[in-house]
Amino acid sequence: MVGIVLGSGLGQLAEEVDARKMIDYSEIDPSLKSTVEGHKGRIVVGTLEGVDVAVMQGRIHYYEGYTMKQVIKPIDYMITELGIDTLILTNAAGGINLSFLPGDLMIIKDHITSFVPSPLIGVDLTERTGSRFHDMTHVYDPRLSKTIMKSAISIGIDIEEGVYLQTTGPNYETPAEIRAYRTLGADAVGMSTAVEAMYAHALGVRVCGISCITNMAAGILDRGLSHEEVQEVADKTGTSFRKLIRNSLTLMGNKTKING
Ligand code: HPA
Repeated sequence: MVGIVLGSGLGQLAEEVDARKMIDYSEIDPSLKSTVEGHKGRIVVGTLEGVDVAVMQGRIHYYEGYTMKQVIKPIDYMITELGIDTLILTNAAGGINLSFLPGDLMIIKDHITSFVPSPLIGVDLTERTGSRFHDMTHVYDPRLSKTIMKSAISIGIDIEEGVYLQTTGPNYETPAEIRAYRTLGADAVGMSTAVEAMYAHALGVRVCGISCITNMAAGILDRGLSHEEVQEVADKTGTSFRKLIRNSLTLMGNKTKING
């Protein structure tokens, strides 16, 4: 089964699932309730493009005041209770790389989580993984990323590749922070995803990630940032983003069959 986390502007994909079950985050843990407009808080289980999927419609964010342990609860549920072996993470992000444009899509090839707490703190996965310390050399599965790249090319969608840096939010960054993050090697910045990727990877799930660049990061253009702008570009890009996910699922489904 493939887990999919839908970021801003992508929620509609969950409506396209041939659903057989809906699980509210509050059923997973009564303390979980998404507080962000445009983010529902549930997992839709069913099929999409003939592939078994569990789709998280909305996610739990650290900036809502949740702990990282709470942030990864729905991910843990999909792994432990629903048995996902593959995870597609999506988000809206600010473009740090000066060659990016709003509306671009970026395959996440690596991430920087040094500015947020690790979701693995206080969560001893030794029994489940055989190790107390977790290798993060290939968080994003290169073969899955390649499948997405192939899928994008086949349906005529331009796609970039880059490093995603996670901040706590809810504030956007300062221009000085963006310059610093660029120096550190980041291409895009956002308030989610990397900790989810880290947690799922530690548990042996194949992970890939795609960012929708909704805006140029702070200080690049001569104007401020707003959630409305982020939402607007995310909504506009939604159609091609959904097409990409559906087509990638088809390729992944075929691969599963080919590999038995
Ligand atoms: N910064 C952080 N998170 C974001 C941004 C940004 O510029 N755009 C969308 N999510």
